[in-house]
Amino acid sequence: MATLNLVLMGLPGAGKGTQAQKIVDDFNIVHISTGDIFRSAMKNKTTMGLKAQAFIDKGELVPDEVTDGIVKERLSKDDVNDGYMLDGYPRNLEQADALESISSELKRDVNAVINIHVDPEVLVKRLSGRFICKTCGATYHKIYHLPKVEGTCDVCGGHDFYQRDDDKPETVKNRMNVNVKMNTPLVDFYEEKGLLYTVNGEQYIDKVYKEIKQILSNL
Ligand code: AP5
Ligand code: MG
Repeated sequence: MATLNLVLMGLPGAGKGTQAQKIVDDFNIVHISTGDIFRSAMKNKTTMGLKAQAFIDKGELVPDEVTDGIVKERLSKDDVNDGYMLDGYPRNLEQADALESISSELKRDVNAVINIHVDPEVLVKRLSGRFICKTCGATYHKIYHLPKVEGTCDVCGGHDFYQRDDDKPETVKNRMNVNVKMNTPLVDFYEEKGLLYTVNGEQYIDKVYKEIKQILSNL
């Protein structure tokens, strides 16, 4: 199998983070979530984190020059030699163009794009039920994905969980609108390049993963 250099796309709450956890376990590639990078920078109150926070709190996109710079720096590291998976990047055509130049300059061209498709109305409900392990970041849902032992993280055994600030109903609405607008041109862009694989994200988590695993195993 060739090195997997992947993009995982989907609207907010489509299940990018949830599926990424599984993909990384099976295929041993580096998971790069721009959202996670921003949240970690906000937690540490770095200059970049403080700048990003103003946008994230409103459900807006962080400016492209900031995000593109982060991705370029991350993809330049040696640990992505054996493959990477971008989660939540690119999110608009400008970022897709930036990724074309970054990845070709680094000789790490994208070889597949997995698009998790879910109706936006379903997503609003999903986001309100999400909770996350404070220790390792594993994602759960109060109806669809509970830890095996109540109150204990399956991955790290931690007991503290939190809800994301941008999962508040007011922010979710704008986040969804912003992302819906940009999603179609991005889907078309990768479709034209022959890189796009769309999976139905309105199925049980394991079923969605089965489809993704099948696609990746055949690449
Ligand atoms: P980011 O953190 O990437 O947020 P997002 O795109 O809004 O996506 P989410 O992380 O909310 O959802 P997900 O698809 O990972 O779903 P999950 O697996 O958690 O970005 C946050 C912010 O950072 C952005 O709004 C923006 O401001 C900024 N940003 C990030 N990238 C940027 C970029 N490239 N450019 C500019 N700004 C950027 O699942 C959601 C819930 O559903 C969970 O509770 C889960 O358990 C449950 N679930 C998952 N799958 C299923 C299923 N099949 N059935 C039922 N429930 C399910
Ligand atoms: Mg996510």
